[in-house]
Amino acid sequence: MLRDLTLPSSLAPPEDSSMWRPDFLFGAATAAYQIEGAAAEDGRLASIWDIFSRTPGKVLNGDTGDHACDHYRRWAEDLELVAGLGLGGYRLSIAWPRVMDEAGRPNTKGLDFYKRLLDRLQQQGLQAFVTLYHWDLPQHLQDRGGWLNRDTVQRFADYADVVSRELAGRVNAWTTLNEPWCSAFLGYGNGHHAPGLKSVRYAVDAMHHLLLAHGEAVRVLRGNDRAPVGIVSNVNAVKPDSERPEDLHAARLAEACANHWVLDPLLLGHYPEALRELWPGIEPAVRPGDLALISTPLDYLGINYYFRANVGSDGAHGYVERSQPNVERTQMGWEVYPEGLRDLLVGFKRRYPGLPPIYITENGMASDDRVVDGRVDDPQRIDYLRRHFAAVDEAMRQGVEVKGYFVWSLLDNFEWAYGYERRFGIVHVDYRTQQRTLKDSALALREFLAQRRSRA
Ligand code: NOJ
Repeated sequence: MLRDLTLPSSLAPPEDSSMWRPDFLFGAATAAYQIEGAAAEDGRLASIWDIFSRTPGKVLNGDTGDHACDHYRRWAEDLELVAGLGLGGYRLSIAWPRVMDEAGRPNTKGLDFYKRLLDRLQQQGLQAFVTLYHWDLPQHLQDRGGWLNRDTVQRFADYADVVSRELAGRVNAWTTLNEPWCSAFLGYGNGHHAPGLKSVRYAVDAMHHLLLAHGEAVRVLRGNDRAPVGIVSNVNAVKPDSERPEDLHAARLAEACANHWVLDPLLLGHYPEALRELWPGIEPAVRPGDLALISTPLDYLGINYYFRANVGSDGAHGYVERSQPNVERTQMGWEVYPEGLRDLLVGFKRRYPGLPPIYITENGMASDDRVVDGRVDDPQRIDYLRRHFAAVDEAMRQGVEVKGYFVWSLLDNFEWAYGYERRFGIVHVDYRTQQRTLKDSALALREFLAQRRSRA
């Protein structure tokens, strides 16, 4: 039979999946610097990403977040999109430099922006998942060392205190940090992200301080509000380049770096042993009590998953990524490998006996999407989402408790070092006119959620 070419194909999970039940949360995610623009409005301070993106050569095409999706002004319209798709949740982040001044006092105008936004979400019946740190460290703190300086932990706790007092009762789930791995490794280890520093020593120190900041913030948030508290970690599937023992070993080191470096301290209360081998002689300055604080039990764990990496031995004590031919890839060049999400979730359940409930807080793909006659045909994204829904479903069948799934992203946005060229949205943004156009993947998602509602 011929497929009806005017309708996007379905991305629905298997018919008997518990993802059809109304209590499985579907949402869309964004982050402040990537969408808000208005970089100097209402007393917003500079962040490390303002400075980094304005430094020639750091971001593709010299793009910056100065205007981004103009969400600071168009937020109401954007929330209408979320509600109109029939989603139940929206994941956003708060811009630290918008809500605190340099002396550590609250910036009322900045806080009011988030109050208005959260109030609207509540009126729309949408659950607000609020991240405190999605990479936009105030530059004045970076000038004092940023995440290399243990004092930043206290500054983060002060910020968490202000925000959670001001916004208490308006948030459905707090997230302390988004992807500390990226903050530490890309920001301080290889310099691909702000602040652009390049040393493993720095990355290891930054990670320890980030995790401590998380632990302090958990305590503060629980003191000020009743909403559940968690953290979001990115995880990668890893494939050994061959069955040779040295490649198998390299793959284990890569997994320790990519996944366990963050999850072991949080869920087991210690750093993975393999890191000593990977980075001999480089250890964080752990003080008594640090790991107990870091491993404070979480209410949920957010998992961001995108791809699988193919990894082999570097001939010394490390690993290298080797590109594999003939695999399906996205516009980022990332391999599409949905089974990796299932296997990681099932593996985490085994490795971490006290694994808290999971939300998939990001998953999605970039493609070179264009509007043609008012429509954006993105079949690869529909297929990607359908296969990743199925992978989540399989993990649940194998006993992993997954409570929700957020697509990255609601909108095309500022994709960090890749600027605006890489488009992750289920909604297309024309950056010249700021016009939003639902991509076919958004229509397919809307269709599935409508079906789900009609069955409830
Ligand atoms: C992870 C980050 O949290 C988000 O900011 C980014 O845009 C996506 N992954 C895609 O790279």
